[in-house]
Amino acid sequence: MSAAGEFGSGEFGSGEFGSGEFGFDDLDLEWLRAKPGAKWHQHPERLNAWVADMDVPPPPVVLDALRACLDRADLGYPDWGYPRPQSPATRVFAARCARRYGWEVDPSEVVDFCDVVQGVQTVLHLATLPGDGVVLHTPSYPPLWRSLRDMGRRQIDVPARVDAAGVHFDYDELERRLRIEPAVALLLCHPHNPTGHRFPVDELVRLVQIAERFDLLIISDEIHADLTFDAVHVPIASIAGAADRTVSIHSASKAFNLAGMRHAVAHVGPERIRRALHELPDHLLGAINLLAAEATVAAWTDGDAWLDAVLVHLERNRSMFAALLAERLPLARHRPPAATYLAWVDCRPMGLGDEPVRAFRAVGVELSDGNDFGPLGAGHVRVNLATSGAILDRIVATMATAEPLPPHH
Ligand SMILES: Cc1ncc(COP(=O)(O)O)c(C=O)c1O
Repeated sequence: MSAAGEFGSGEFGSGEFGSGEFGFDDLDLEWLRAKPGAKWHQHPERLNAWVADMDVPPPPVVLDALRACLDRADLGYPDWGYPRPQSPATRVFAARCARRYGWEVDPSEVVDFCDVVQGVQTVLHLATLPGDGVVLHTPSYPPLWRSLRDMGRRQIDVPARVDAAGVHFDYDELERRLRIEPAVALLLCHPHNPTGHRFPVDELVRLVQIAERFDLLIISDEIHADLTFDAVHVPIASIAGAADRTVSIHSASKAFNLAGMRHAVAHVGPERIRRALHELPDHLLGAINLLAAEATVAAWTDGDAWLDAVLVHLERNRSMFAALLAERLPLARHRPPAATYLAWVDCRPMGLGDEPVRAFRAVGVELSDGNDFGPLGAGHVRVNLATSGAILDRIVATMATAEPLPPHH
């Protein structure tokens, strides 16, 4: 699977960096190109650094748990309670929140979803109406702003300003705006995709104060919570005053590379939303797949050693990417992410136009188009850093060969 191949013994293979217990630097490009998942399958000939899947295989403890589940040969209805089943992952989540974030969660207030965006849309559906204002930090992970658009909610932007010191949001300006343009909810992406911003405690406190002042429901997408580098994640619901007005949605899918399993959990703080969820027809949102819950439980129970190791690898990649970019694409503007394995790169000084993704594609590198993240993404690309050192090196070397293209018609 990850036997030494083209990238198993290169400069960033077992030599300079060492590949460690889990072989994160031993990725074989041919193995990646044969994978059936979306990231590599659509254009196997390219170097794929777009959708947020990691190139490394998921933790062995998760694969072992899935195999053990198959070996038990019982794929019948799980015994998770009736008529409102709760997968075992809900209890494991509550225990893990206390252990990892020091956040005490009542497991009876945790619900399963088939994925994070389903949780976001369900809560928007139950707690807001078409025409209602919803605050969103921009640029934004596309399914979040598209959810607001498709559901007819009014997006109230908090635009990011990115400079060498970090990612900044102007909350005085947000408060001014909320006085004239009311909102009912804050849809937070914490940590933030695509900028990799990890909202520090003082910023979370400010957001909670704003939510209290303007009576906003907080819907917090915390899917990247375990991918922070310099400090442990602080759930916004753990900030004083937030718990009763916050729905926090988590998943093992990003940190443990399990996105195809389709599973998320949400802690639903507001009682009225818990009630509204219980009043929905019981099959409307589908049910959780037995194997998906098995994978989540294994990751959150036994996956911490792998998570620690992958974070070391990703942190190395984030430094390496910044260094390679400075050397080979010195005009690109980039600030290493404080969280996530996603790098947000401002290519405007490079003269590659509003859609630099096209120029990089033309030389064989597939990245995420900044324009998909909203108007602030023009001239930007998002680069997925979760690969081996050798492949990352080759991605940047190839990006450096990109040239301006004629405008797109
Ligand atoms: C911020 C954020 N939310 C949600 C998702 C998607 O989660 P799901 O597939 O569980 O809907 C992603 C995937 O990259 C993401 O980055």
